[in-house]
Amino acid sequence: MKKSYHLTTFGCQMNEHDSERMKGMLEMLGYSEAPERAQADLILFNTCSIRETADTRFVAHLGEAKRLKREQPDRVVGVGGCWAQSVKEEVFERFPFVDVAFGPGQTHKLAEFLTSDSLSAQGYFEFEGFTGHLPAKRARPYQGWLQISVGCNCRCSYCIVPSTRGREVSRPLEELVDEARAMAADGVREITLLGQNVNSYGRDLRILDASSSAAFTRVRAREGSRDQTTRINPGRPRSRTFAELLYALDQIDGIERIRYMSPHPKDMRKDVIRAHADLPSLCEHIHLPLQSGSSRILKAMHRTYDRERYLDRVALIREHVPDVALTTDIIVGFPGETEGDFEQTLELAEQVGYDGAFTFIFSPRRGTEAATMTDATVPHPVKVERLQRLVEVVQRRAHERAQRFVGRTLEVLVEGQSRTDSERLRGRTRHNKVVNFSGLAQPGEITQVEILDVTSQTLSGEEQLLARAIS
Ligand code: 5AD
Ligand code: SF4
Repeated sequence: MKKSYHLTTFGCQMNEHDSERMKGMLEMLGYSEAPERAQADLILFNTCSIRETADTRFVAHLGEAKRLKREQPDRVVGVGGCWAQSVKEEVFERFPFVDVAFGPGQTHKLAEFLTSDSLSAQGYFEFEGFTGHLPAKRARPYQGWLQISVGCNCRCSYCIVPSTRGREVSRPLEELVDEARAMAADGVREITLLGQNVNSYGRDLRILDASSSAAFTRVRAREGSRDQTTRINPGRPRSRTFAELLYALDQIDGIERIRYMSPHPKDMRKDVIRAHADLPSLCEHIHLPLQSGSSRILKAMHRTYDRERYLDRVALIREHVPDVALTTDIIVGFPGETEGDFEQTLELAEQVGYDGAFTFIFSPRRGTEAATMTDATVPHPVKVERLQRLVEVVQRRAHERAQRFVGRTLEVLVEGQSRTDSERLRGRTRHNKVVNFSGLAQPGEITQVEILDVTSQTLSGEEQLLARAIS
């Protein structure tokens, strides 16, 4: 009988991407997806460890897997992703019913385990790489992830990712263009480029620059001797840039929207900002993680930019792409954060006026530098109070910012039924704003919606049916 699997995904888009590949791979191995965990022969978790709440949420789910395994001992329980990587072999000591554990990007090892006769529990925690080459089972056929790099070379003192995902490795540009072309041929219209730090893409790649090799050929023709020319101009290898990748992907027919997550403010250069102004498919949205508005705290976080430099990047972005939507990540209650530091964060959020923000309470993570700063811990009630004050500013400013869309007709990629009203549709603008609207379009279509009203989170409007009839 055909075996079935159930996979639960926690964490970021990188995990969602890996899970799509895991599903694609399992279906290639003959497994089918079970609607519920209780009906599955293979119970899988793709885990996250970014904050303590991520850990605890997952451990509660694991309790159910333990019970199901007791009921039917030939079930296989597998735990992949960042939490597994961060505790490694300890998984088996703490949770003896787990059969297989593997770190991020180790999906192929899961396949190896499932197709072998191995009876003992196995752990796979080598950093090896990409799941991008595996087939994907996409949640939405018209939206796809493109994993451009793995790992992270930053040393942010609060962050567990460098230890769970290893050093940064970029995939070759040509390989990414081929993959995006294949996605387009498969019906994907919107791609999201994924990496821990997307805009440092390509620094580890070495190619022979086309212009220097052209010069090289010219010299060779003139001299008429191979040996002489190698001495004259061997053609210097250079690295690739994120902007180059954006320009190459924009050329692909069928890819109508390009997004990326997440850039680092330290690497946000003019070439990428210019690409936003130049490239028709690159969306008017930049997620630029701030973390703190205090230069002192940014330094303790090892973010390698200060408040002024961040504001300078925002000004440059707005100068070139005035209508851009800016979103961010902010942490409150980092060790040693004073009321004065926090007020600087509030002030910056007020000044920038984000279109949205993810706000987090600092949570110490095993193995990170910030977790050792226990003498400077901010009391929990203070953290909670700061978070509330920050959320108030973020939401008020987002609501004000959203007003600029009222009365405008925006391009919307339809994602399905509205979550709040089944009579209406739901989609996303190029600014990454969710729109609930009345209309006739089908999921996957790009249509025009007139915006009539806004909240801090969403827009609402009406599809322009006339425009639809003409196009
Ligand atoms: N505590 C709280 N928030 C964190 N983030 C990363 N590590 C921590 C931590 N230890 C937040 C950062 C990051 C986002 C993905 O999660 O804001 O940008
Ligand atoms: Fe969670 Fe970070 Fe791992 Fe993503 S990379 S799953 S956010 S720990």
